[in-house]
Amino acid sequence: MKLTIVGGGGFRVPLVYGALLARKERLGLDEVVLYDIDEARQARIGQVLEGLAAEKGVELPFRTTTDLVDAVSGADFVFCAIRVGQLEGRVIDEDVPLGMGVLGQETTGPGGICFALRTIPVMTKLAETMAEHSNGWLINFTNPAGMVTEACQRILGDKVIGICDSPSGMCRRVAAVLGRDPKELWFHYFGLNHLGWLTEVRDGTGAPLLDTLLADDAALERFEEGRLFGGEWLRTLGMLPNEYLYYFYYAADTVNAIRGGGSRGAFLLQQQREFYARNGHSPKAALEDWRTTRHDRERTYMAEARAAAGQEGEHDIEENSGYESEAMAVVDAIVNNTREVLILNTANRSALPFLDERAVVEVPCVVGRHGPVPVAIGEVPAHASSLISTMKDVERTTIEAALTGSEQLAIKALALHPLVPSVSTAREIFDGYRRRLPALAEAFA
Ligand code: G6P
Ligand code: MN
Repeated sequence: MKLTIVGGGGFRVPLVYGALLARKERLGLDEVVLYDIDEARQARIGQVLEGLAAEKGVELPFRTTTDLVDAVSGADFVFCAIRVGQLEGRVIDEDVPLGMGVLGQETTGPGGICFALRTIPVMTKLAETMAEHSNGWLINFTNPAGMVTEACQRILGDKVIGICDSPSGMCRRVAAVLGRDPKELWFHYFGLNHLGWLTEVRDGTGAPLLDTLLADDAALERFEEGRLFGGEWLRTLGMLPNEYLYYFYYAADTVNAIRGGGSRGAFLLQQQREFYARNGHSPKAALEDWRTTRHDRERTYMAEARAAAGQEGEHDIEENSGYESEAMAVVDAIVNNTREVLILNTANRSALPFLDERAVVEVPCVVGRHGPVPVAIGEVPAHASSLISTMKDVERTTIEAALTGSEQLAIKALALHPLVPSVSTAREIFDGYRRRLPALAEAFA
C-alpha cells in the first residue's frame, strides 16, 4: 500500500506520520511519500519524522519528492493538507475584511472565500493528476474543506473525502463531560464544514442526553462549545453548534476582539517562520522543537473568540489530536471494511433533503471498503436549513469564480455571504485582496 502526503512540509505532518507508525501493520503500509513544492520546509519536517521513528523504534520508511506525478502515481491514499499562498496568504485573508469591520478568519467569512479562490485551481489540478495516475482515495484536509471537496468531487466523484477534526472533537468533548465513551454514543450531527449542529446524543439504551446537558450550566462550563456559546443561547437553540458558528452568532463581538488582539494567522506566521528557520538540528532536537512549538500553538487556539466572550481559561491540549485520528479512522474503515460511523464531508445523496444530491455536506457516514455512505438526517430546524442553503450557494458561487476567474462571481459570492453587510463592502474587500495578492490580481485580471 502506498500512501502519499501532499503538503509534506506542513506543520501537522508529524501528527499524521506518528499515527501511521502506530498503525503500520493494521493498514499494511509499504510506502509513505511526502510531496511538497517547498523542499526546505519538507526537509525540516523530514527531520522531525526521523526523530519520531527513532523515538517509537518503528521502521516506516518515507521518501520525499517535488514531482507530483511521481508522488501520486499508483497511490492508494493521498492525504492532502496544503495552504496555497502559505501563512502570508492567510494573514491577508484575515486582515483585509477586518480593515472594513468584517470578520477576518481563515475559513469563515470573506477570508474563506479568498482562500478558496486561490486554492481550488490548485486542488482541481491535483484531482486531475490523480484521475490520470491513481485509482486511490483523496483524503482532503485542505481548507476550506467543504468547498475544496466539492470542487474535487466534480473530477474524482465519491473518491474524494473531506475531513475536519471539529465535529469529532466536539463529540469527544461532549462524551467526556457526560462521562461516557464516545464509541457508545450516537451523535446526530449535520451541516456543512465549519457550519454544523449537534441536535441529539443518544446512549446504548436509546436515551436522549443532550437536553439534560444543555440544562446544566456547570457541565457547559467544562467544555469549549459550552463556554463559547453560553447556556442561555444553547437552550434557546436546543442544539449544540460547531465552534465555528461562534463567528455567525457573535459576529460583532469577534470582529472587535480580533481587531484588538491581532489575527490568528499573524501569530502563526511569526511562530512558524521561526520554527522553519531553525535548521541543522539532529532528528531528536528537531522533534523536541516541533513539540514545543505545537504546544504553544495549541495553547493559544481560539484565544480571540474566548477573549470576545470575556472568558478566561485555556484550550485543552490533546497529545493525539483529532486531526490525524480522523484521517486514520477513515483509512482504517476503508482498508479493513469496518463500517464505522464517522462524520465526514461527502456528497449529500439525500442526507439533507433540502439540498441536491451532489452538494457536499458534513454528516455521519457509514464507512467501509466502498467509502462513506451518508446517513439520512431528514428535516432540520429552519434557521439551520436556511443558513446551510445560503452558504451552499455562496460556496458554489465561489467555486465557479475560482474555476472561471470571474470577478463578477467573486464579488457575488462575497456580497451574498451573510457576514458581509453590503455590496459595496464586498467590492472593497475584493479590491483589497487584489491589491495585496498579486496572484489573485493575475487570476482575476
Ligand atoms: C481546526 C479546524 C481546521 C483549521 C484549524 C486551524 O483544526 O478544523 O479546519 O484549519 O483548526 O487551526 P490553526 O491552529 O491553524 O488556527
Ligand atoms: Mn476544519
